[in-house]
Parts: sequence; C-alpha cells; structure tokens
Amino acid sequence: MQPENPVSSLKTDLLKSSGTFRVLVGVTGSVAALKLPVLVSELLQLPGVDVRVVTTDHAKHFYNPAEVSVKIYSDMDEWELWTQRSDPVLHIELRRWADLLIVAPLDANTLGKIASGICDNLLTCVVRAWDVSRPLLFCPAMNTAMWQHPITAQQVSSLKEFGYVEIPCIVKKLVCGDEGKGAMAEVSTIVGVVKQYLQTPEET
Ligand SMILES: Cc1cc2nc3c(=O)[nH]c(=O)nc-3n(C[C@H](O)[C@H](O)[C@H](O)COP(=O)(O)O)c2cc1C
Repeated sequence: MQPENPVSSLKTDLLKSSGTFRVLVGVTGSVAALKLPVLVSELLQLPGVDVRVVTTDHAKHFYNPAEVSVKIYSDMDEWELWTQRSDPVLHIELRRWADLLIVAPLDANTLGKIASGICDNLLTCVVRAWDVSRPLLFCPAMNTAMWQHPITAQQVSSLKEFGYVEIPCIVKKLVCGDEGKGAMAEVSTIVGVVKQYLQTPEET
C-alpha cells in the first residue's frame, strides 16, 4: 500500500464539519507541556469541540505523542507539505481552520518571539498570521526568576495590547525546586476559560 499523500491527509484532517468549534493548542518547551495529553482530552470533552495541536520541537521533549488523541503538527510537517506552488502552506491552513488558538504552556522564549513578531517555526508563524479578531489565549509558564525579570511584564503587556487573553500563571513549587509564581494555570482553569468562548456564538 502506498503511503498517503501529505496534502490529501492534511485536507482530510482539517476538513471543517459544521457546528464544531475548532481549538488549536500551541505547545512550547516548558515542563508544563507534560500536561498536554490531559489538556487535549479535557478540551475534547467540551460539547462540539474539535482540537488539533501545534508543537515546537523543544516541547516534544515533555510529552508522549501516543497519549494525545489528535493530530500534532510540527515544523517538519510544514516543510514536508510544501514541494510545489499549488501545495498548501501549513501555518496558513491551520490559522484558517482554527476558531480559537490557545498557547499552553507559553514559555519565555516563545513569549519573547511572539511579542516582537518573530516567526521562525510553525507555531510562531500561525501566531504571526493570526486573525486578531479571533480569540488567542496564552498561558505563561516559566521559572520564577524568569517570570520576575522586567522584560516578562513588558512582553505580556504587548500580547494583551494585541487583544490576546492571558490566563495567568500561578504560585507553585516548580519542577526545578524553586517555589513562586511561574507555574502554568491549572488545566481545569484553562478549560474553563475556553468554555466561555463556546458560550459566545461567533459572528460570521
Ligand atoms: C527540563 C527543562 C525545562 C524547561 N522548562 C521551561 C519552562 O517551564 N519555561 C520556560 O520558559 N522555559 C523552559 N525551558 C527552556 C526552554 O525549553 C527553552 O527556552 C527552549 O529554547 C524553548 O523553545 P521553544 O519556545 O521553541 O519551545 C526548559 C528547559 C528544560 C531543559
């Protein structure tokens, strides 16, 4: 049997079925990416919600893709998909597909990139091409020392100025042993915020 053509499998995977609310989860290289499987599975329990994931390469270190029941797109897919002019550009297809983008966790590196418009991987290209009239939620997660650095507040406020919604980090004993602010919000909090957008019908 021949392997499926990547363009056809993308078209099948991103087929929009009516009545679904499409949530794209961006995941970056914070240890909180460990929670990706549970975040995806709880989002899928919301009525009418469909989910896809865009991962950075560093984020892959923290979760087992076999525990995530939806398609996970990464930089390799972006470049493998495009071989000729008529081929789709993955970051554009994903921004067209999604009704809501949530970056959870958003690490310090990608926060800085998004705040300054850098788009050097699949996730930051989706964000850079995002239609800012659609909701973009972000869940910062980093070590307390990183969180307290003055550049963090500047970058978070830039994202809020774009209209993006912060789901604030919380105080916790972090994996590195430090205790303080910087842990990603609880999955239940994140899902609760996404739920609020389901209750607001999209104007089309
Ligand atoms: C074990 C480990 C845990 C990390 N946890 C975090 C974190 O919670 N927050 C953060 O901002 N960076 C964290 N980092 C650093 C990021 O992984 C690093 O900045 C990386 O370049 C991020 O790449 P990305 O934004 O493309 O995913 C961690 C690194 C390691 C090795």
